[in-house]
Amino acid sequence: MNNFLIIYSTTDGHTRDICLRLKQVIENEHSQVSLISIDQVSTIELNSFEKIIIGASIRYGKHNPGVYQFIQHNLPVLDSKPNAFFSVNVVARKPEKNTPDTNPYLKKFLRQISWKPKKLAVFAGKIEYQKYSFWDRFIIRLIMRITHGPTDPNTNIDFTNWTQVEEFGKVISDM
Ligand SMILES: Cc1cc2nc3c(=O)[nH]c(=O)nc-3n(C[C@H](O)[C@H](O)[C@H](O)COP(=O)(O)O)c2cc1C
Repeated sequence: MNNFLIIYSTTDGHTRDICLRLKQVIENEHSQVSLISIDQVSTIELNSFEKIIIGASIRYGKHNPGVYQFIQHNLPVLDSKPNAFFSVNVVARKPEKNTPDTNPYLKKFLRQISWKPKKLAVFAGKIEYQKYSFWDRFIIRLIMRITHGPTDPNTNIDFTNWTQVEEFGKVISDM
């Protein structure tokens, strides 16, 4: 039985929800999965896991700096195991920006790190204005207006293609 670790970086919980779905898919393939937030990951022994996945969302154009630090500090262990990375952002709701080769955030991220994840994915995220602070809601609505996305302050849209998430779950399950 394989022993997976999924590390997530989330602000509003959506990346964690994606990780939970991946966990379900992998467990259906008879492997064990542990989920941990990037903020807690220093408390565990990475070498006790056979396969490592990292998922992180974008906020104001960036992944959490803690994700970069974790990767830089743990490159040898990451490289020594089957591994994968995925990014969650709302730009990926656009068909022309929803693959690892076309998503600007994932492309930039890969240029900034020395790690070359063995499997990659990008998933469109969620917009839920009522969850955001006044300022965040204002800015995101402005960005959505410019990029032809939803601007209604009651918007609660999940752009994630869950079939794509499940397919990625099968890919990483087999790596
Ligand atoms: C304050 C804020 C800033 C965001 N900035 C971006 C951004 O710059 N580009 C983008 O594509 N998505 C952006 N998003 C969308 C998030 O990536 C999306 O909501 C995602 O589902 C969040 O995942 P999380 O809940 O795991 O953090 C932003 C969302 C919020 C609330």
